[in-house]
Amino acid sequence: IKKIGVLTSGGDAPGMNSAIRAVVRCALANDIEVYGIYDGYAGLHKGNLKQLTRHSVSDMINRGGTFLGSARFPEFKEESVRQEAIKNLEKHGIEALVVIGGDGSYMGAKKLSEMGYPCIGIPGTIDNDIAGTDYTIGFMTCLNTIVDAVDRLRDTSSSHNRISIVEVMGRYCGDLTLWSAIAGGSEYVVLPEIGFDEAELFEHIETGEASGKKHAIIMITEHVTDVTELAKRIEAKTGRETRATILGHIQRGGSPMAFDRVLASRMGARAVELLIDGKSARCIGLQYGKMVDHDIIECLEEMERPFREDLYNLSNVLF
Ligand code: F6P
Repeated sequence: IKKIGVLTSGGDAPGMNSAIRAVVRCALANDIEVYGIYDGYAGLHKGNLKQLTRHSVSDMINRGGTFLGSARFPEFKEESVRQEAIKNLEKHGIEALVVIGGDGSYMGAKKLSEMGYPCIGIPGTIDNDIAGTDYTIGFMTCLNTIVDAVDRLRDTSSSHNRISIVEVMGRYCGDLTLWSAIAGGSEYVVLPEIGFDEAELFEHIETGEASGKKHAIIMITEHVTDVTELAKRIEAKTGRETRATILGHIQRGGSPMAFDRVLASRMGARAVELLIDGKSARCIGLQYGKMVDHDIIECLEEMERPFREDLYNLSNVLF
């Protein structure tokens, strides 16, 4: 293999740059040229790509976001759009593609592979919602950002004896919420995997108050309920001041922490190794501390991400 492409797609995640850097440097070390595709699948469709050198990825290991840019591009579901994309790659003699992103990005890679174009997926998303890996690139950094915000909210909510609701990203995966609830010492957690029982929450707040708790932090995953409305209902029910904070896109930014940089470097290196070995339609993971790779179709269609019941049970003991 002599020429490969790399792109980032979907929501950006801290550590994506470290992964691109690893793909570029490991490929160059094996005499493989690398093309960076800008703005994800949208850029691939437009033919927005450029050859990358060692220098292109200098000073990138510590930078948040993705210097290649990213986009959500639902049009890639169309076969004709993908055909154009493959033509753009072939025009430059690019023989395979490394896709760094979440499950929507994996779907694109799967479809390209099914059309005979070799692709490898690297899990890059803050959500930690990809099967076949214990951690996705960006999860740990995002978690730290959330916990930092929760620490700050704790200061102000305890000063004012308030209840604080914190809405966390994660799409339909509660990992960021659960882990940040444990790390931030919150009083209650609401997860999509468990569902939301409002009466139980009210009861919990009242029990906490009866035992002398002056403030409470409630962590909740986005899309479960409207947190601003929930804050109003809690105030009405308990008579206690309640504020809702939606952390929003702050969670996606920032310099990747060391864990994500190392994870991204290992995954980028593995992607290049797989391509050198002639593999395609694989996705990379970290499981039990080891680099692994799985069939991307199985990953999307059959493998399940196990819910961390152990952590959920622990959080209930600690609250
Ligand atoms: O997948 C990453 C993520 O940040 C999710 O947590 C969130 O639901 C979504 O992307 C937000 O997407 P956008 O940036 O397109 O609004």
